[in-house]
Amino acid sequence: MLGTGTNTFGKENQTFQGAINFDTTELQSAIALGYRLLDTAIYYRNEAVIGKAVKESGIPRGEFFITSKIPEKSEYNATDNVVRSSVQSSLDALNLGYIDLYLMHFPLEKDEDNLRVWRVLESFVDQGLIKSIGVSNFTINQLTYLIKHARIQPVLHQFQSYPGKLNADMIAFCQSHHIIPEAYHSLAKMSEENKKVLTSIGQPYGKTWGQVGLRFQLSMGMVVIPKSHNPLHQQENMNVFDFELTQEEVELISSLN
Ligand SMILES: NC(=O)c1ccc[n+]([C@@H]2O[C@H](COP(=O)([O-])OP(=O)(O)OC[C@H]3O[C@@H](n4cnc5c(N)ncnc54)[C@H](OP(=O)(O)O)[C@@H]3O)[C@@H](O)[C@H]2O)c1
Repeated sequence: MLGTGTNTFGKENQTFQGAINFDTTELQSAIALGYRLLDTAIYYRNEAVIGKAVKESGIPRGEFFITSKIPEKSEYNATDNVVRSSVQSSLDALNLGYIDLYLMHFPLEKDEDNLRVWRVLESFVDQGLIKSIGVSNFTINQLTYLIKHARIQPVLHQFQSYPGKLNADMIAFCQSHHIIPEAYHSLAKMSEENKKVLTSIGQPYGKTWGQVGLRFQLSMGMVVIPKSHNPLHQQENMNVFDFELTQEEVELISSLN
């Protein structure tokens, strides 16, 4: 239900474009705090850093849940063989034997091409090298086509969602099709105005705006993957399972624009 994003981890200057420096400090603090779901991607260039941190932790690999993603650019998926080598590059870089969840990071232009990539991902599931497959940043129409034609159904959809921009239609669509909705940008994009509303809701519980936002998403059945370079924030983001929002608070947060 709760993992850590990693898109700036293991990089110089803690920036997305920063050179990979194999520094596992943030990953080690997250793992020490109890995070086991680690969300990476070929685009992040840091799959090898994630694999390194898992091994350094000394915790059995089976306790982790590793997500990675194949990009939508044709250099990563132009033919079935190219898709295979992209997935193989993730397996090699992570070097953890298998990948728990592999997502199409963005849809391709044509539904038929999404299905073509998907068929290759299905073959990796058949081989046991990927345990589950899903998508990210799809529209309802794109998902509908995939659901109709896929042999193995997508288990999860990762998309942008936060108080103020919930994407409620997508959450409902996923849940009605037994697809787990997973939020990204749970914290990063929230408006200052909405943070104030969440801050006041959190006061009686002794919780921050971020904790209220994450608790809200969890209570809607979403998986969340907040990312922080700050161990105090990492801890705060995990500390969201000891309070419940009231129905009125949930409705208020749902109504934010
Ligand atoms: N599928 C996709 O297309 C896609 C796109 C974007 C992201 N993602 C994934 O989703 C993950 C999360 O998204 P994200 O990293 O962009 O954004 P995020 O987790 O919503 O927010 C990260 C920002 O929030 C701050 N923060 C974290 N915890 C906080 C807290 N408790 N209080 C106050 N500020 C806090 C962080 O700063 P500090 O470091 O200072 O705490 C950082 O600036 C990514 O790392 C990536 O794995 C996927």
